[in-house]
Amino acid sequence: MILNLISITVYLLIKFYSFGVTADTCDTYRHPRYGFGQCIDRNQCPYSLYESGLCESYSSNMQCCFSLRNTTNEEFRAVWIATVDNIDWPSSKTAPPDQQRAELINILNTVQLLNMNVVIFHVRPAGDALYASTLEPWSFYLTGAQGVPPSPFWDPLAFIITEAHKRNIEVHAWLNPYRARMTGATYELAPTNMAKRFPQYAYPYATNIWMDPGATEVQQFIVNVTEDIVRRYAVDGIHIDDYFYPYSDGTEFPDNVTYAAYQAQGGTLDKADWRRSNVNTLIQTMYTRMHVARPKIKFGISPFGIWKSGVPAGISGLSSYDSLYCDSRMWLEQGLVDYMTPQLYWQIDPPAQSYPVLLNWWVEQSAKGRHVYPGNALYRTVPNVSNWPINEIIRQIDITRSMRDQLALGNVFFSLSQIMQNLKGIQNVLAVLYEQKANVPKMPWL
Ligand SMILES: *[C@@H]1O[C@H](CO)[C@@H](O)[C@H](O)[C@H]1NC(C)=O
Ligand SMILES: *[C@@H]1O[C@H](CO)[C@@H](O)[C@H](O)[C@H]1NC(C)=O
Ligand SMILES: *[C@@H]1O[C@H](CO)[C@@H](O)[C@H](O)[C@H]1NC(C)=O
Ligand SMILES: *[C@@H]1O[C@H](CO)[C@@H](O)[C@H](O)[C@H]1NC(C)=O
Repeated sequence: MILNLISITVYLLIKFYSFGVTADTCDTYRHPRYGFGQCIDRNQCPYSLYESGLCESYSSNMQCCFSLRNTTNEEFRAVWIATVDNIDWPSSKTAPPDQQRAELINILNTVQLLNMNVVIFHVRPAGDALYASTLEPWSFYLTGAQGVPPSPFWDPLAFIITEAHKRNIEVHAWLNPYRARMTGATYELAPTNMAKRFPQYAYPYATNIWMDPGATEVQQFIVNVTEDIVRRYAVDGIHIDDYFYPYSDGTEFPDNVTYAAYQAQGGTLDKADWRRSNVNTLIQTMYTRMHVARPKIKFGISPFGIWKSGVPAGISGLSSYDSLYCDSRMWLEQGLVDYMTPQLYWQIDPPAQSYPVLLNWWVEQSAKGRHVYPGNALYRTVPNVSNWPINEIIRQIDITRSMRDQLALGNVFFSLSQIMQNLKGIQNVLAVLYEQKANVPKMPWL
């Protein structure tokens, strides 16, 4: 009864506010309080805020549905800044430090202007460092030669932390654990690269160089690198993406020697379970050690968005559980991450990898109440990638917001470049959706 009254009142308010406004479709109509709507069956409008006359090209039962959800004051609004292959930054690995710094400032100013609050900054794309490390070589993507420090000297991670914090933006340091050299890259590895330190566990695979996740020294070394960052830098989080065992090139990953050694020591797991346990050990150890070093650090993982093909029913695609030996569901369920960012790089409507179906499944796995901030494929709006309409991204954010109560508390965009280019007006869209400032969600367990 009261709810009805509220929705009628709000409906009338909307009527009032939008009086005289016309739009060709609801998707482009910007409501002064509720942002962009969606043209959907009026009976399915989840928060009973609809408006006729804005979905003209649709059948008459389709109405423009707005969200009743308040713009919340807690939302994770993040973007990945990829350095591998110079995807997002620096624009050139041979540009002078002054220019590279100016680019970072421009990026942070844009992120701040859009009321976004987190950058996920790629500091270790391939056993290298975009920060001053005594364990690993300077990145090829920063200076054009692995192991060569920037000249004049500067430390990009220290710089971005200082500048981001001035702007109330968190910095999460993004590391790739096992990749020692990127697909197709041919540059010389420096002697301190992990593939040179542990050559017996470094395998050429699928035009990468990949470290063996089953080697204890490799695991310990990665944990040491992580702990070193957490101890020396005021990063707000540590982040790892979807690469565990490498995506298959059709050949077997050449780890039969480490597996045989495991069996010789009495190990009984089959190879697939053993591989998963290797990755699980790394995740567990990273989680524990970084929180010993700094209890409030946030650990986030952005795995491939499908855990197992067929889960939930109707979903099909690559199984990261079987192909990458990534038991991401278990990490979320057991609280080995503080936030999970499944890469839901698919559209809403096609059922095989449906964004809302997958997101709903992911939030259901969070038995310990860890947050879920899905990854959104902004790069798929690029014309020669998938040419998604920008409305796909708007709807994905709105669907995420509809699951706030289940701890879907924000979005992470891949990647920064489309935002900087304002591709398809993405900055204008975010300016509306993020019109109100928001804090990063609190994590009471930390
Ligand atoms: C929306 O925000 C207002 C003001 O902050 C608050 O009073 C109201 O309870 C909120 N409504 C919902 C549905 O959360
Ligand atoms: C990791 O760090 C510990 C403590 O500094 C050190 O004893 C160990 O040798 C390191 N492990 C590797 C594989 O570098
Ligand atoms: C591992 O595989 C290689 C190549 O397939 C083979 O030559 C070697 O004997 C195998 N080693 C063990 C310990 O199984
Ligand atoms: C897509 O377009 C961009 C910009 O025009 C270009 O740099 C890139 O190489 C193109 N990619 C492909 C796969 O064609």
